[in-house]
Amino acid sequence: MYTVTKLEDYSPETLDKRLQELGHALEEEASQVETESQLRIFRDKWLARKSGMVTQLNDVWIGEALAHQKKNAGQLFHMAQQLIRKTVEQRSKYVGIVDTIKASFAADRRGKLASDRLDITLPGIQRPIGVKHPVLRVMDEIVAVFKAMGYSVGEGPEVETDYYNFESLNFPPNHPARDTQDTLFIADQESKPARDRLLLRTHTSPVQIRTMEQQPPPVRIVIPGKVHRNDPLDATHSPVFHQVEGLAVDTNITFCDLKGTLDHAMKALFGSSVKTRFYPSFFPFTEPSADMQVSCIFCGGKGCRKCKFSGWIELLGCGMVDPNVFDFVKSNGYDSSKISGFAFGMGVERIAILKYEVEEIQLFYEGDVRFLEQFA
Ligand code: PHE
Repeated sequence: MYTVTKLEDYSPETLDKRLQELGHALEEEASQVETESQLRIFRDKWLARKSGMVTQLNDVWIGEALAHQKKNAGQLFHMAQQLIRKTVEQRSKYVGIVDTIKASFAADRRGKLASDRLDITLPGIQRPIGVKHPVLRVMDEIVAVFKAMGYSVGEGPEVETDYYNFESLNFPPNHPARDTQDTLFIADQESKPARDRLLLRTHTSPVQIRTMEQQPPPVRIVIPGKVHRNDPLDATHSPVFHQVEGLAVDTNITFCDLKGTLDHAMKALFGSSVKTRFYPSFFPFTEPSADMQVSCIFCGGKGCRKCKFSGWIELLGCGMVDPNVFDFVKSNGYDSSKISGFAFGMGVERIAILKYEVEEIQLFYEGDVRFLEQFA
């Protein structure tokens, strides 16, 4: 609390000291002023014309000075007055800014509350959750059919060696059977021995050998996966597509087991009225080999445009595992004089196209939501 007292002398030291005292007291008080009403009291105390500090300073410091002291007293008063005015002015500005900020915070809070208000009568926001892609869905369906028969599920690499994709499946180097699968090769592999050169697997059959290397017989396994061929894109072909491979090896496995297993699987996939038939074919890794056909699921076998009026649709390749294939894994218990097996491989897109009557294979890969949401 500052009180105005008489100046005892007018030496420059004393005047400096008095000005400092006043400055400290003024600062101290100013720093307490936060609100409009505090500011009004503060301003009146120091500046009010009637009994404010400035008036008092004038009365005491100048009024009571002798004539020869008036000049110094006047200078001190002038500086004190300037200091007081400046301090009050600055503090007014500060309070003004604080008030503005407070007001905008308050307004903000009111605005937020308004927009945050929950209208519980509004319908909820529906967020569509994704569904399995139709290709994956069909692949899973096929796998499930075989799982129910006791098959396990395996996988293998998409980038494969020549050995697993061809050689160990009884495609000798330069054998013309390799031409039936137009292969995409990985570049710059010439420095490696032929069997180690990398390519994009053209079928899931390499996983047959990989599986037999890993486990001795008996084997019952299905292998879903992506395969690649250098085929031009058309309504039913894509350079990237999916297969499900199957392999069963045990003692006394016969062609009868192959037929029974696949016939059951087709009935599980397409309905119990579907019939199957087996047509002689050729694959290097099966002997005998067959193409399996199903009775046309569109006309029931009577003949229509979809089955080219034959009543039958070709669906997959299969056969009894060639003893030459077993020879590559002989050391792991695959002695073709003691065991036998069958294998099959089916195209997933082909089955999906039939099941859902899809016109173009490309629809599966374009990611058009209008197509995909039909499977939701
Ligand atoms: N891998 C063969 C193909 O892609 C299909 C097949 C698999 C045939 C297993 C026989 C046995 O054409």
